[in-house]
Amino acid sequence: FVPPSKKGGAGAGVPALDRVGNQVTVKQWLASHNAGDRELVQGIKGDAYYLVVNDEKTNVKDFGINAVCTHLGCVVPWNAAQNRFICPCHGSQYDANGKVVRGPAPLSLALAHVEADDKGGIVFKEWKKSEEDFRTGETPWWS
Ligand code: FES
Repeated sequence: FVPPSKKGGAGAGVPALDRVGNQVTVKQWLASHNAGDRELVQGIKGDAYYLVVNDEKTNVKDFGINAVCTHLGCVVPWNAAQNRFICPCHGSQYDANGKVVRGPAPLSLALAHVEADDKGGIVFKEWKKSEEDFRTGETPWWS
């Protein structure tokens, strides 16, 4: 579920941008993607992030997965057949939520919160240090 972000408040977030630099909306994204799709947009600090469509195809999940491999920084493609992100550079693997399951990558992929702005546009917000990495129960290494 993507909660609408509050106007003003703790900052408007960073818009999720498509290849030509337009902000993507939840509505558009759901119209052009299937349940379980993980596809890239540009997010915080210009990094590539995966947006994840939920299993019911009713919304985009409330977290985005940073595509930068924690080994040496290659962009990690999603492999739907294997249900994993598999790095082409040295073979690191991450599960469907970006949790590392095979090295040499030392850490899971970073996360960002995903919200909808008041026009239904998708925005990213930083994962704070005070929050937990829900995949590991640990402090997020990237914040
Ligand atoms: Fe991804 Fe080395 S950069 S495994």
